[in-house]
Amino acid sequence: MAKFLVQKSGPLTGEVTISGSKNAVLPILAATLLSKEECVIKDVPALRDVDVMCRLLESLGANVDVDTVKHRVTVNASGELCSEAPYDLVKMMRASILVLGALLIRQGHAVIHLPGGCAIGERPIELHLKGLRALGATIDEELLSHGIVDAKADKLTGNDIYLDFPSVGATEVIIMAASLAEGTTILENAAQEPEIVDLANFLNKMGARIKGAGTDTIKIEGVQEFKGVAHHVIPDRIEAGTFMVAAAITGGNVLIRNMVPNHLKAVIAKLKECGVQVTMADDGVRVCAEKQPIVSTDIKTLPYPGFPTDMQSPFMALLTVAKGPSVVIETVFENRFMHVGEFNRMGANIKTDGKAAIIPGGKSLQGAQVVATDLRAGAAVVLAGLVAEGTTEVSQIYHIDRGYENFTEKLRGIGANIMRIDE
Ligand code: UD1
Repeated sequence: MAKFLVQKSGPLTGEVTISGSKNAVLPILAATLLSKEECVIKDVPALRDVDVMCRLLESLGANVDVDTVKHRVTVNASGELCSEAPYDLVKMMRASILVLGALLIRQGHAVIHLPGGCAIGERPIELHLKGLRALGATIDEELLSHGIVDAKADKLTGNDIYLDFPSVGATEVIIMAASLAEGTTILENAAQEPEIVDLANFLNKMGARIKGAGTDTIKIEGVQEFKGVAHHVIPDRIEAGTFMVAAAITGGNVLIRNMVPNHLKAVIAKLKECGVQVTMADDGVRVCAEKQPIVSTDIKTLPYPGFPTDMQSPFMALLTVAKGPSVVIETVFENRFMHVGEFNRMGANIKTDGKAAIIPGGKSLQGAQVVATDLRAGAAVVLAGLVAEGTTEVSQIYHIDRGYENFTEKLRGIGANIMRIDE
């Protein structure tokens, strides 16, 4: 199994360029199934999750050409598709559920075997299904009780849909299905993440009529068919946030290129509360934490534009070394403190109580053997390792490979002492 060896590193300095967004490209790739013409997706990060999505599209009958050097994926789904997503792929990535809406439109039938809950919680999909039912799909309840989504629809018809929670995945699946349904759909309490806007922009280029993406009410007027288009994926805001924290925790000074500061307002605000200087430059965003110590702050994760749950664990790494105590409240996922045990192995002394983690701060961390318990938690322990005395050995790094392109190379490029060992 591959591992990272992280040594205490000095202040990180230099420049790092952010890759295309994982969470934007996954639904966009799923949406290419909606067109019978060729789509070219650009700025695609070379990641394990992207690879799984491409293999899923291929297994469903699309021709997929991946150029990892040019960061480009070309999808041609003009031929006959298959309605059933193979369990082998779905179990590797929960975001496979994103093909649900597209399959219903193209095939009138979609079968997806759901994997069990993942490390950060159950991750139910009742909101996706509520939306599709409202559009006219029928879901086999008996199969659903066995973890199989078997959805059928001769035709989909627009409707008013209210989401009980602004689920990102449900919003994406419903937008895709509604954009080729008959009539108008109004989706209320929709997720407002930048990745939703990127998906809507892609669909609108293909011929969809979607308004209001990025707000809590999205109006979708169904159209008959989509053409093939080319699209550049937005930069990955969570990767950008992770590198901002890497600069901050090491007392560094790093220029982050290819990030959209507007997508990270909450993270930037919190970094500033910690005493980190964040300044806009023509060619990127400069993060300077040369003035130490880092000051503590409290954080509560929320749907966008609130503080992103995906930045909760990387930011907690910073709070372990900040001067003074902090409280982190996780409201989006029910079990997203797996990294606390790993930070505590390094001497962080964090306590959790339900949705809250209490971080005493001001700790000198010690290198230890730790586990990447999920994708973002994996990045978080690497960040902690950059300031811990001695060596931090991070195992289960396949989680990190799911979502950070060239993570070690990018970190080493700004002076981090990190090595990948393939055993
Ligand atoms: C997406 C992101 C993930 C991020 C998350 C929240 C992708 C591929 N993944 O995941 O990185 O952490 O948004 O920002 O884009 N929920 C329900 N019922 C549902 C659907 C969701 O209760 O039917 C709950 C979930 O259990 C979770 C919360 O809503 O507690 C957020 O889930 P959701 O927004 O759907 O996240 P994902 O789309 O899975």
